[in-house]
Amino acid sequence: MIETREKLLKILMQGKPISGDALAFDLGISETAVREQVCKLQELGYLIKGAFEPGYLYLDTPDLLYPWEIRRGLKTQVLAKEIFHFQSVGSTNQIALDLARKGYPEGTLVVAEEQTAGRGRWRRPWHSPKKKCLLFSLILRPSILPYLVPEITLVSGASTARTIHSHTGIRPGIKWPNDLIYQGKKFSGILVEMVGSSEVNCLVLGIGINVNQESNDFPPELQDTATSLAIINGGGIPRVPLLQRILETLEGDYEEYCRRGFAQAREYWLQYEAILGKKVRILVGGEEFLGEAVGLAEDGALTLRLPQGEEIRCSAGEVTLCREDDRT
Ligand code: BTN
Repeated sequence: MIETREKLLKILMQGKPISGDALAFDLGISETAVREQVCKLQELGYLIKGAFEPGYLYLDTPDLLYPWEIRRGLKTQVLAKEIFHFQSVGSTNQIALDLARKGYPEGTLVVAEEQTAGRGRWRRPWHSPKKKCLLFSLILRPSILPYLVPEITLVSGASTARTIHSHTGIRPGIKWPNDLIYQGKKFSGILVEMVGSSEVNCLVLGIGINVNQESNDFPPELQDTATSLAIINGGGIPRVPLLQRILETLEGDYEEYCRRGFAQAREYWLQYEAILGKKVRILVGGEEFLGEAVGLAEDGALTLRLPQGEEIRCSAGEVTLCREDDRT
């Protein structure tokens, strides 16, 4: 029945009024079934005008992340071949991890309108209000050793930054490893979680983007540190096309990474980085270091110059920009 509904939507979206009779003929179903399917579409948020003369008239699509909306016009080969959409879910990463363990293929996409237990790095919650953000997870099965997994997060962060820039005109900064920020405030984060053994790698790549939140949508504790694309842009941004463009860029960048390694993604990352040359505090396994961020190593590690001049490599950790350097 979902297939019929998609066909019906396609016909209606041509924008001309069409009678129930004609729709029934085109779809090979009864007029009653047409009416039921139109009602279902209306329940899903589509604006379609009534059944009487001159017939059904499609007026508008909701900005919801339905699989058929994501698929329409999407130019990917692997990513989002299979899509799971939820109105509300604990965490899309958790769902994707479960699907990955069941053997779902590379590229499987889990997307939600809301998360009730969205999670971030360092076990922090990820604020995920209804219908305002992009909250999605992808199953990836790259043939790499586990120690290279952090590179995937950098590939994805750079890809997301590039797409947001070209699609919206907003130029994000990347705070190592992959927080996307604008004028010091964060609007996107990435959480990669591993499934499986050291021989057969399977990852879940989770991306959260604050798209259409207004300032008062954020809880008090995030008011000073979080922002959204709509706040930066001064107006709402449709989520479906943004997601489609991210998937397309990510597919190309991920393929390049799998074939030739990290070099190209490193270049992209460096184009958007927002921390090199700045004073930062980095927390590594309970130990805190203060210094200047001076470089991104070939493998994605951050190089930090300590006050005494010694340089250290950090391959994991949480960075905070020091106050005088925290505006991008
Ligand atoms: C971070 O910056 O701490 C990472 C945030 C990652 C959030 C996304 S939202 C979609 C996916 N599902 C989750 O539970 N987390 C990731």
